[in-house]
Amino acid sequence: MKLRKVMIIGVGNVGSTTAYTFVNRGICEEIALVDLNKELAYGHAQDLLDAAAYRQNMVKVSLRESTDCADIDIVIITVTSGLAQKSRKEELDGTSKIIESIVPNMMKNGFNGIFLVATNPCDAITYQVWKLSGLPRHRVIGTGVWLDTVRLRRLLGEKMDIGPQSIDAFIVGEHGDSQFPVWSHSSIYGINLNKLEKNKVDFAQIGTQARKMGFEIMERKHCTEYGIASTITEICQHIFTNSHRALALSCILDGEYGYKNVAIGVPAILDQHGIKKIIELDFIEKEKQLFANSVEIVKGYIEHINL
Ligand code: LAC
Repeated sequence: MKLRKVMIIGVGNVGSTTAYTFVNRGICEEIALVDLNKELAYGHAQDLLDAAAYRQNMVKVSLRESTDCADIDIVIITVTSGLAQKSRKEELDGTSKIIESIVPNMMKNGFNGIFLVATNPCDAITYQVWKLSGLPRHRVIGTGVWLDTVRLRRLLGEKMDIGPQSIDAFIVGEHGDSQFPVWSHSSIYGINLNKLEKNKVDFAQIGTQARKMGFEIMERKHCTEYGIASTITEICQHIFTNSHRALALSCILDGEYGYKNVAIGVPAILDQHGIKKIIELDFIEKEKQLFANSVEIVKGYIEHINL
């Protein structure tokens, strides 16, 4: 059996919680931790191995340099510049410099797997990783708006007293302020949500609540970790199981929706090789405008880092 190996670059709140979730879900056989803070990485590794000892399957938790990546299937990038509370462009300046210092050297050392980007601003950093890696676009994925979509579903579920997994509503666009729910295609077993709860649920308010949830959590605990760790875990699980499941992820567009040279949140099918297919929705006019606005905002970030 081929051992499934992941590398998590950055063992802050998101990286370490992701590693813990991987151990508990039995996602892979090796978790390689990478961080400049070697003492922190060692502490997390030993703590994770304590947790792994309760599992049936053996999990190896190793400490590596990012360049020791030739045998890694999925590299998860969670590094932060620590500027999340600053402006998006200041945050982007910080994180893009870190990415620049990591990705080219990984490619020189034989990385040939899939990049999964959770670092914010997610869409611009996903695009930067793709440009720096030279990998085919289907192998560079951003967590994008899947967490936002799950937030939308749970908020709708709370209002409509229905399990989130039964609600086919989703968000597209930037993982940020310009994202938007695609109400025209949102349904429960094919019944459009608007028809179901026309007068009882304020869909616009719920869409806003989902969009702002990351900031709400960040304001109180100065990070988010459980939701994004579960998002990363689910995406890796679908890749490792070749599930062909459709999620809303940050994908590199090459003509889809009429756009190129941008990474942005769209519905896409995942398989063992990464993005199998981007699903092109038939937006209503308003949604076309919102999507165009979101693309322009992400392209502005991409230009800001001269890609
Ligand atoms: C959030 C972070 C991952 O939305 O951006 O929680």
